[in-house]
Amino acid sequence: MSETATLSLGDRSYELPVSVGTEGECAIDIRELRGRTGYITLDPGYANTGSCLSDITFIDGDRGVLRYRGIPIEQFGSDPNFVEVAWLLIFGRLPSPEEYRCFAADLTAHANLDEGMKYHFEGFPRSAPPMAILSAMINALSCFYPEYLELEDDVTFRMMAARLISKIRTIAAYSYRHSKGQPYIYPDPKLRYVPNLLHMMFSQPYVEYECEDVVRDALNLVLILHADHEQNCSTSTVRMVGSSQANLFASCAAGVCALWGPLHGGANVEVLRMLEDIHRGNVTPEDYVRRAKSKDSRARLMGFGHRVYKSFDPRAKMLSVVAERLLMTLGKPDPLLDIARKLEEIALEDPYFVERKLYPNVDFYSGIVLRAIGIPINMFTVMFAIGRLPGWIAHWWKQIRTQPGRINRPRQIYTGNGLTDYVPMAERESNVG
Ligand code: SDX
Repeated sequence: MSETATLSLGDRSYELPVSVGTEGECAIDIRELRGRTGYITLDPGYANTGSCLSDITFIDGDRGVLRYRGIPIEQFGSDPNFVEVAWLLIFGRLPSPEEYRCFAADLTAHANLDEGMKYHFEGFPRSAPPMAILSAMINALSCFYPEYLELEDDVTFRMMAARLISKIRTIAAYSYRHSKGQPYIYPDPKLRYVPNLLHMMFSQPYVEYECEDVVRDALNLVLILHADHEQNCSTSTVRMVGSSQANLFASCAAGVCALWGPLHGGANVEVLRMLEDIHRGNVTPEDYVRRAKSKDSRARLMGFGHRVYKSFDPRAKMLSVVAERLLMTLGKPDPLLDIARKLEEIALEDPYFVERKLYPNVDFYSGIVLRAIGIPINMFTVMFAIGRLPGWIAHWWKQIRTQPGRINRPRQIYTGNGLTDYVPMAERESNVG
């Protein structure tokens, strides 16, 4: 007999089904609530609301657990391979050697952009925010691959997903090259996913960028740790847009826009700016923490806190180690890492943060890793988007197959004017003071 929840409204009681997840999470299923009671629920920000059943990613925020298709993220650390994890998230299992080879070959074959897309880059100011370009150019793919706008079958989906995962690198690299006034560097079919991205960003004509193994592994792991995070703001945006049967390019372009916000993916930029501000001596770590605690200031300790993690974000733990190892191997000590550690030490001993269960999140150390690789701060959130893309695709594809033809459309409680008559302009009193 499955568990139920009893809801009492006035003199009536209603039994509502309870849904229980693989790891014992429980939800009251309210799909029939309005039809049976006339009531809806209210949950601004959706902190208590599940939008779907999902078998893609599991997070236990109290225990600091993150698993992709059941595999703990810590197990991807030894030989990080972002392409393999992308397949796992999208298709639900680790690829066979042959499946991996075919997928990697598809990514290699479809790394180039249509030459016509270059004119779009030329139209942007060099100072244009890379996230604006990324969203625009992902959407522009809809114009160059109209055959993918009507999703027919699994084969079409696989080709569309492979093209998008491959081309997002080229779009990101070209936006960086345009911002520097440098020539575009074509993808090199001899290079694997991450080295090819860095090649397109940093090679010069006739001077190849050499990707060191420690850099290749660090960036693969950064992308893996950003690859999915269940129903976060940007993934929920991709699902919302996809529920209207908008194509994958349009849905992921919307996800880029949601990720851009400083409370979400944009936080990795704000963390670096915070660390640099302290490094320049404009403010001490102690003063910054004091400012972040003050109700009078809008300042927050960027890279700290999380809607789900109420203990350490396991990604922050791994990225902290990656940062230390990378800087040591490259022989490039970074004072910002010491400042980050100092901020973490102060905050984790401060009752304000302890009581609110505010710990470092994925953004706290990721920027230090990206900076060590030579990626400019304005490209940090673009790297987050490249990492998150497989998660967006996985959730988009899952939603299409599990709730076909059902648009996502939340309700509201109206608190505005009651019935009000229109007043012709001539009869309105002037309110010019
Ligand atoms: C990501 O959802 C995901 O999974 C996101 C993500 C993913 O992989 O997709 O994990 C990626 O977006 C990580 C988060 C990156 N953002 C930041 O680092 C920005 C700083 N963090 C905060 O803005 C905040 O912690 C959020 C946005 C991350 C979470 O906000 P919540 O859950 O809405 O928490 P809240 O704003 O209700 O805060 C609760 C309390 C408040 O104080 P009181 O009103 O109780 O007195 O904690 C305080 C907040 O003021 N607080 C902070 C704080 N974060 C929360 N105070 C100072 N510094 C902070 N960072």
